[in-house]
Amino acid sequence: APSDPDLVERARAAKARLGDKVFVLGHHYQRDEVIEFADVTGDSFKLARDAAARPGAEYIVFCGVHFMAESADILTGDDQQVVLPDLAAGCSMADMATAEQVAECWDVLTDAGVAGTTVPVSYMNSSADIKAFTGKHGGTICTSSNAERALKWAFAQGEKVLFLPDQHLGRNTAVRDLGLSLDDCVLYNPHKPGGGLTADELRAAKVILWRGHCSVHGRFSLESVRDVRERIPGVNVLVHPECRHEVVAAADLVGSTEYIIKTLEAAPAGSKWAIGTELNLVRRLANRFADEAAGNKEIVFLDKTVCFCSTMNRIDLPHLVWALESLADGKVVNRIEVDPEVAAFSKLALERMLALP
Ligand code: 13P
Ligand code: SF4
Repeated sequence: APSDPDLVERARAAKARLGDKVFVLGHHYQRDEVIEFADVTGDSFKLARDAAARPGAEYIVFCGVHFMAESADILTGDDQQVVLPDLAAGCSMADMATAEQVAECWDVLTDAGVAGTTVPVSYMNSSADIKAFTGKHGGTICTSSNAERALKWAFAQGEKVLFLPDQHLGRNTAVRDLGLSLDDCVLYNPHKPGGGLTADELRAAKVILWRGHCSVHGRFSLESVRDVRERIPGVNVLVHPECRHEVVAAADLVGSTEYIIKTLEAAPAGSKWAIGTELNLVRRLANRFADEAAGNKEIVFLDKTVCFCSTMNRIDLPHLVWALESLADGKVVNRIEVDPEVAAFSKLALERMLALP
């Protein structure tokens, strides 16, 4: 539906009143009505890098989810305040690894005698506490656009990797990009004593995957891939690495949201694509490349069911207007501020990611 013209006008006016004081970042999964007001858009890696690009901006309005706003707070100056327009915009995957569970897992690895040779690699989609744990134990953060480099880096530091919280990104990267076998990976279940693994299993494993997943990408199935290939002959299947291993294995191409966009930009005119990622982005891309001038590229959503990320969608135009108008009136709302000690260790892990070769 088209945005309420009154709200659009209010967002414009508030942004104009704020001028250079505000910097609005928008993740690719955000609604169109929000993306319209973003100064920069990107995948989670690009946004982590771009967050620090305007040191002069007093306020950073993060249109994305909580862990992204935390990372922006960690990576920007002390005089910059990060605002998340709706505090309920979390991430169910990030919630699947709590600090207590991860500390317990490390005890389990210690008891099995493998903690000393294990390097933690944590996906960006995790809380600042998990990032701090990672930094403290010599590990790095990764995103879906640098997971291969992060895992290679980690294997140069130690013998094993503890990958958390997304089992799929971990498994897909280990198998597809590093050439490890599925048997080299074990699944650590934080809800079972000892993770549900024996000490021998932990000792034999190369990659210890945390049992977390993305509920949005988890909905794509092997059947969706088969269906779309039948429905659209010659279709190219392009999916995000948060999808299940069998989906990734059946796809033609795999990559982060930024990679998906670049691939479609470079795709030949008239080509056909089925995309396995969040629906706001897929719809935007389908519209963008639909007409003659843009190459008549046919872009469809990989699944038959509708699949938005409900927490990303919480950031809507009313919330954005409220945040911008409050800031323009000098009132800071929904500030995301990471505890300084947690921030220091998280920063270490984030900086290791930013320095990956
Ligand atoms: P990227 O932005 O790295 O592609 O990750 C997608 C995602 O699920 C963010 O929550
Ligand atoms: Fe989290 Fe998945 Fe939504 Fe990304 S798409 S914010 S991983 S629930």
